[in-house]
Amino acid sequence: MERLDKFLSRELNITRSESKSLIKSGAVLVNSAPARFADMKINTDSDCVFVNGNEITYNKFVYIMMNKPKGVISSSDGRKTGEKTVVDILPAEMKRKNLFPAGRLDKDTTGFVLITDDGAFAHDILSPKNHIEKTYIAQLDKPFDSSVVYDFENGMELNGKKCMPALLESACGDNTKAKIVLKQGMYHQIKRMFKKHGITVLELKRVAMGALQLDKNLAPGQAKYISKDELSLVKSAHNMGDFR
Ligand code: URA
Repeated sequence: MERLDKFLSRELNITRSESKSLIKSGAVLVNSAPARFADMKINTDSDCVFVNGNEITYNKFVYIMMNKPKGVISSSDGRKTGEKTVVDILPAEMKRKNLFPAGRLDKDTTGFVLITDDGAFAHDILSPKNHIEKTYIAQLDKPFDSSVVYDFENGMELNGKKCMPALLESACGDNTKAKIVLKQGMYHQIKRMFKKHGITVLELKRVAMGALQLDKNLAPGQAKYISKDELSLVKSAHNMGDFR
């Protein structure tokens, strides 16, 4: 059972207050009766909900984009270490069972984390075989030069392991701010890739997964549902252009 306003805001990707206004306006029917109360409980297995005559289908899984702030971990369970997780800081109305982040960012890395309860989807986008492109912006302590770009593009070795080719380009005039596109996710990968060239990453933010960009309107710690159309962008290649 679920509150009607919560169901509508998730399935229609609208705010809770927009759901409430919709219910108030008489546009929402549950089975064949107009819904009157936002806190009415519906059974998502058996009740049929209509908005302006269109049936709203229940999606089994949810997909959430969070702008991860610093200081929280990309995990669903911080009990062992007492740390706050990305799932802990979700707003109450978005919380549900079995949510976890599909992929990891370091505790001090900010930006796009995809949180879901769809294990198969997460497995798919995390599989090293699928080469989902992740785009980052890094603030560096000193500028990189063409030898660093060459090493990124040719698949550098980290602790004896060859990395996949990665894109590195300037994100500002003096090469102290970089855009990086990775197709894999090794432990501390970007920090280690720069460290190999004597460069320290001061700030790191993930700004896109595939062709889906982090919503610029999300403040650190904020989250929103991802629509089906947006979700399909995660799997499309975007930033690497010819560089594949
Ligand atoms: N590379 C890193 O070094 N850290 C991250 O969080 C992501 C990629």
